[in-house]
Amino acid sequence: MCGIVGYLGSQSAAQILIKGLHQLEYRGYDSAGIVLNTGQGKGFNLFKAKGKVANLEAAIPDEVMYQDHVTVSGIGHTRWATHGEPSVANAHPHVSMSGDVVLVHNGIIENYKELKDQLMDRGYTFQSQTDTEVLCNLIDLYYQQHGHDLRMAVMQALNKAIGAYAIVVMEQQDHAHVICARKASPLVIGIGEGNEEFFIGSDATPIVSYTHKVIYLDDEQVADVRLNHEVEILNLDQTLAQVDVKEVDLDISALTKGGFPHFMIKEIFDQPNCIENCMRGRLVHLEDGSYDVKLSALQNFKAKLIRARHVIIVACGTSWHAGLIGKQLIEEMCRIRVEVEYASEFRYRNPVIEKDDVVIAISQSGETADTLAAIQLAKEQGALVFGIVNGVGSSIARAADTGIYIHVGPEIGVASTKAFTGQVTVLTLLALALGRALGTLSEEKFQRTCHELMQIPAKMGEVLKQNEAICQLSAHFTYARNFLYLGRGYNYPVALEGALKLKEISYIHAEGYPAAEMKHGPIALVDEEMPIVFLATHHELYHKIISNMQEVQSRKGRILAIVTQGDEEISHIAQEVIEVPETLQALEPLLSVLPMQLLAYHVAVMKGLNVDMPRNLAKSVTVE
Ligand code: AGP
Ligand code: GLU
Repeated sequence: MCGIVGYLGSQSAAQILIKGLHQLEYRGYDSAGIVLNTGQGKGFNLFKAKGKVANLEAAIPDEVMYQDHVTVSGIGHTRWATHGEPSVANAHPHVSMSGDVVLVHNGIIENYKELKDQLMDRGYTFQSQTDTEVLCNLIDLYYQQHGHDLRMAVMQALNKAIGAYAIVVMEQQDHAHVICARKASPLVIGIGEGNEEFFIGSDATPIVSYTHKVIYLDDEQVADVRLNHEVEILNLDQTLAQVDVKEVDLDISALTKGGFPHFMIKEIFDQPNCIENCMRGRLVHLEDGSYDVKLSALQNFKAKLIRARHVIIVACGTSWHAGLIGKQLIEEMCRIRVEVEYASEFRYRNPVIEKDDVVIAISQSGETADTLAAIQLAKEQGALVFGIVNGVGSSIARAADTGIYIHVGPEIGVASTKAFTGQVTVLTLLALALGRALGTLSEEKFQRTCHELMQIPAKMGEVLKQNEAICQLSAHFTYARNFLYLGRGYNYPVALEGALKLKEISYIHAEGYPAAEMKHGPIALVDEEMPIVFLATHHELYHKIISNMQEVQSRKGRILAIVTQGDEEISHIAQEVIEVPETLQALEPLLSVLPMQLLAYHVAVMKGLNVDMPRNLAKSVTVE
C-alpha cells in the first residue's frame, strides 16, 4: 500500500526522494522516512516523521536537503501501517541491529512472528513492532554469514519469508549499490543516462520526470542495481532473468491539480476528456455515417471469447460496482451468463471455473492484491483472463492474458471517479463488440448505442455545469449521519457507488439498495433526518421508482432525486432535484454517477475533510 522511492547518483538525493514521496503519498500516509548513504564513513543518515511527508520534509536540515555532487544512495517510504501503529519507531526505513543494512518495504511478511522468534534466539533485538524490521534483521543475519554479500543475503532471506513484498535494501559499506525485490507488490526501476543514475518507485510516477527507460520487476525477482553498471535481474533460485527495458510514457501534467483545489474534483471534471481518450480509436465513426467498435484484445482472442458460456467478473470496491454494470451490459447485449464476484471472496471460495470460462478482472490501479490473487486462481483453472485496467504496465495488466486499458490517466484522489466511468465505458465497448460478433445484438441497437455513447462526453459536460448548484445543495446535507441511495436496473450499482463515495470521503454512513428492496427493511430507518438519494431517470422502471419515492415522502424522508432533463413529475415529490441529459438506459450510469461524485466531494469539503487522502484508506490496496 505504501509508496517507495529510491535514488542512486550524484544529484541532490534528499530532494528527489521527498518529491517522489509527495507524488506517492496517495498510497499511504501515516508516517514517512528517508535514509541516505554518502559513503563518507558517516553511516546511514536517517530521518523519520509521523504523519504526512510534509512533516518529514520539515525535519530534514538544509545541508542534507541541498547536498549535491556527491555519489549517494537513498531510499524513502510513506507508510500505510499493517503491523504496529503509525509512529516514528514503526516508520520505515528500518536499520538492522548491526547497523549494516537498511530497507523499506511495502506489503506484509506473514510468518514474521516465527522468524522474529528465531532471530531473537540468535540475540537480535527489535526497535519496532513491524514485520519489516524482522525481514531487515533476517537479511542482516545472512549478510553477516555470507561475507557481506547483500544480494545473496536478500535472496536467502526472501526464500524464508512468506507474504508479499516490494523492498529496496541498501548496505552501509557500499553507497553505490542497492538491491530491490518484489512479490505481489509493484516495483519499477528507472535507468538514467549511461547508468549514471537510477530511480526506483512503487510505480513510474516519481520516475518519469527523470527518465522514460524503466524495468518492471516481476514477482520473485531480485534486481541488483549498481552505479555505472547494467542492472542485473535474478530469480529467487539465483538463476539470471532477462532484463526487459521498456519505454514508459506518462504525462507529468496529468499528475498535478491543474488549478483545482483537490485531485478528486480535477478528476471528476476530467471525465469528458478521459472518456473521449478511452474511446479513441475504439469507437469509430465510419465515413458512411455508421459506427464500428475495434478492440484489438477482442480480435486476438475472438474464438475464445465467442465460445465463452460463462463470464466471471472479479474486482473490489468501485471496480466491483463497475463490474455490476458490466454484468447487465454483457447479459443484455451478448446473452452470456455473468457473475460478479468480490475478488477477496472468490480467491478463497474454491469457485467453479471451467476451461471455456472468461474471467474479467477490473482494477484501476492494477495492483490490488485480492484481484491479482483471483486472477492467479482463474489462470490455474485454465480460464482466459481479460483485464480492464488503468495502471499501464501494472501487475494485473501483465498477469492477464489479454485486456483493455481504460486510458483515463493516473488517478490520484483516493476516491475513484474517472476510473469508474472509464471502466464502464470499456465494458460497454466490450459488450457491444462481443454482442455484434455473437449476433445477439441487432445491428440497429448496436448502431444506436454507439451513436449515444459518442455523445456521452458532451453530456457529461452538461452535468458538470451544475457543479455550483450541487455544491449549494450539499450544504443541506452536512448534518446527516446516515444516507440511503436507491436505484434500479443500471442505476442500482450507481446507488452503491454513490454510497461508497460518501462513506469514503465524508465519513457519513451510507448504504445503497435496489429501490424496491427498501420496503423489505431499510424503510424502517426513514424519518425527517434521513436524506435519501433516488436515481430516478427516465427508464422502464421510472413509475415504479416514483412509487418508492412516495413511500419515503409519506414518512417525511428528505429526498434528493437525480432525474432526466425536463422531468416535471418528480420535482413535486423531491426536495432537491439534479437533472441529467437523456440517454439510453444502458448508458445512464455514465451520467448519473457524476452528481453522486460531486455530492460526496462537496459534503466532505464542507466538513473540512481531506478529500484526496481520506483517513484509513490507501490508493492501491496491495495487501489482503
Ligand atoms: C474507490 O473509491 C476505493 N478507493 C476502492 O474501493 C477501490 O475501488 C478498490 O480498492 C479497488 O481498487 P482497484 O480498482 O485499484 O483494484
Ligand atoms: N507491513 C509493513 C508495516 O506495517 C509495511 C506496510 C506498508 O506497506 O506501508 O510497516
